[in-house]
Amino acid sequence: MTHKEKPLGFGIIGLGSIAGHHIKSIMELDSSKLIAISSRNQSKLQSAAAQYHVEAFNDYRKLTEHPDVDVVCICTPSGFHLEPALAAADAGKHVITEKPLEISVERGLKMIEACEKAGVKLACIFQNRYSPDYRQLYEAVKKGELGKPVLGNAYIKWFRDQQYYDSTDWRGTLQGDGGAALINQSIHTIDLLLHVMGPVKSVFGRTKTLAHDIEGEDLGVAILEFESGALGTIEGSTAIYKGYPEKLEIHGVEGNVILEGGKITEWTPETGSGSTATVNETSATGSADPMAIDYKLHKSQIAEIVQHIIENKEPMVNGREGLKSLAVIEAIYQSAKSGNQIVM
Ligand SMILES: NC(=O)c1ccc[n+]([C@@H]2O[C@H](COP(=O)([O-])OP(=O)(O)OC[C@H]3O[C@@H](n4cnc5c(N)ncnc54)[C@H](O)[C@@H]3O)[C@@H](O)[C@H]2O)c1
Repeated sequence: MTHKEKPLGFGIIGLGSIAGHHIKSIMELDSSKLIAISSRNQSKLQSAAAQYHVEAFNDYRKLTEHPDVDVVCICTPSGFHLEPALAAADAGKHVITEKPLEISVERGLKMIEACEKAGVKLACIFQNRYSPDYRQLYEAVKKGELGKPVLGNAYIKWFRDQQYYDSTDWRGTLQGDGGAALINQSIHTIDLLLHVMGPVKSVFGRTKTLAHDIEGEDLGVAILEFESGALGTIEGSTAIYKGYPEKLEIHGVEGNVILEGGKITEWTPETGSGSTATVNETSATGSADPMAIDYKLHKSQIAEIVQHIIENKEPMVNGREGLKSLAVIEAIYQSAKSGNQIVM
């Protein structure tokens, strides 16, 4: 039986807050089947194994070696994506990692190179790429309905309390999170900004830690120049009281589209079939609550990745695509540290 008839077997490493979105998606799709899970936490592992009737491994390496596991989902802290990815690639398994790809370009590149060498696919979860309203925005820009894009803005004025950072040993730390507001929360909208506006030529950034007791930044601001000549700005934070839905604003010489909290709220191209009244039930924002996001966009992305694995094609957000937002955020950190503009 080929994978065209038989579902792909999945293993999940890390059983924290986002793992549930992977489990639910895999269990609902006809093209995937949950085979095994792995966690350091023995009681969580055993109760999840009993709930989902799957095999449980304390050691993630054993999960990657399971003969029925074809794809490994990495749901561990951001600074611990590389090691499970290397183990999976070594065992000849495809890899789906949570965002960010890793906490540095150097570590992200090691994942990409290992997967390329092993001939397995590497995909990075950026579920907002699969929102119908975002797809509509993207298509309009690519079809030229806004004319030449001149300015792109990503505003992520979110809120996380100190308890959010204190609730794990990794959030907001340099080793576990790689930073904080930009690399963990804002990266979703930064990924969309880069996807629409194209390659970045230079970055100037400032970061601050003003409202939390953490190593990483809770406020970051950056000016981008794109290779197209257009400019862009990023304002990302977890220190904005109450939190606002994130915004992506794309301005072209013939029109503007604004996506707020995943929904189009402004649509003024001169041509095209867009509407400001699109209703997208899968949209949800994590502006104040990290778990307010819906699992359905994860399901859409995992379905797309499975399809591309079966057809031996690259998933839309492969490792190199996932590296782009990480590289820009790393450049913002470097610029903030040195006070210099970083040429990409
Ligand atoms: N796509 C999204 O919208 C989204 C949302 C939340 C989190 N995430 C990403 O998912 C990842 C996990 O985040 P989370 O909020 O679920 O974290 P979490 O702390 O809730 O869960 C992490 C899990 O990894 C396990 N773990 C930690 N260190 C480990 C190790 N050395 N070996 C094996 N297991 C280990 C923990 O026991 C825990 O089960 C992060 O990279 C985060 O950026 C993505």
